[in-house]
Amino acid sequence: TNSFGRRLKLIDVTTSTQEEMRLLAEQGAPSGSLIIAEEQTSGRGRQGRKWLSPPGKGIWMSLLLRPELPLTCAPQLTLLCAVAVCRAIRAVTGVDAGIKWPNDLLVQGRKVCGILIESVGEDELIRYCIAGIGIDVNLEPEDYPPELLAIATSLKMESGQDCNRAVLIGAVMNELEKLYELYVEQGFGPICHLWEALSITMGKEITVKTARGDIQGIAEGLDPSGALTLISKDGQRINIYSGEVQLGG
Ligand code: BTN
Repeated sequence: TNSFGRRLKLIDVTTSTQEEMRLLAEQGAPSGSLIIAEEQTSGRGRQGRKWLSPPGKGIWMSLLLRPELPLTCAPQLTLLCAVAVCRAIRAVTGVDAGIKWPNDLLVQGRKVCGILIESVGEDELIRYCIAGIGIDVNLEPEDYPPELLAIATSLKMESGQDCNRAVLIGAVMNELEKLYELYVEQGFGPICHLWEALSITMGKEITVKTARGDIQGIAEGLDPSGALTLISKDGQRINIYSGEVQLGG
């Protein structure tokens, strides 16, 4: 088995746990290795964005996975991570987080967790994946710059209570390990259903910003590869492989 998080490196301050993990991965660290930082000075988000990572208030961590899978499975692993973190947050805090495709976790429209998966491949196979997970756990409104307050929130701000980070990390690792086993044994089907049940966009009108312009339609679900399927106004079924989803038409 994988024993996610049993090999653990705790760091006080780093630029980004993604960089730290890349070094360990290249040195041959085993699957399931985990790096957690108290603070990141250049936390990274998707699409070249920055990730606010103040000391002691959040979970800033990177997990190494070495699945023996083709590179084309990487999007499915991304979705699996979102399901695992979403389930852990709900179970530990009772906060009603939902998933925005592919792997943002939102509470009432505000982002509480972001996931960045970086895959390194060789000959069409995944050599390793680094799953970077950032959860705004105990941040207070004053920890956010004003422009972020409108779009971001923390578990503490939503629940009114401090959340024990160690407990939540443990729950995330357990969920990840459980769902990963399910995925290896039964394929993407069961994960796909769990994802759809936690999605906040299913059946709703959305706009997807893509490199080739905006696409509007009703979110229908996931296709077997993990792409987002939507039905456009003229009834066409469109698969989205990358882009930024916004609620509303
Ligand atoms: C996103 O929503 O854009 C993804 C954010 C991912 C943030 C996490 S925090 C731990 C890991 N280290 C990083 O630099 N980024 C990820």
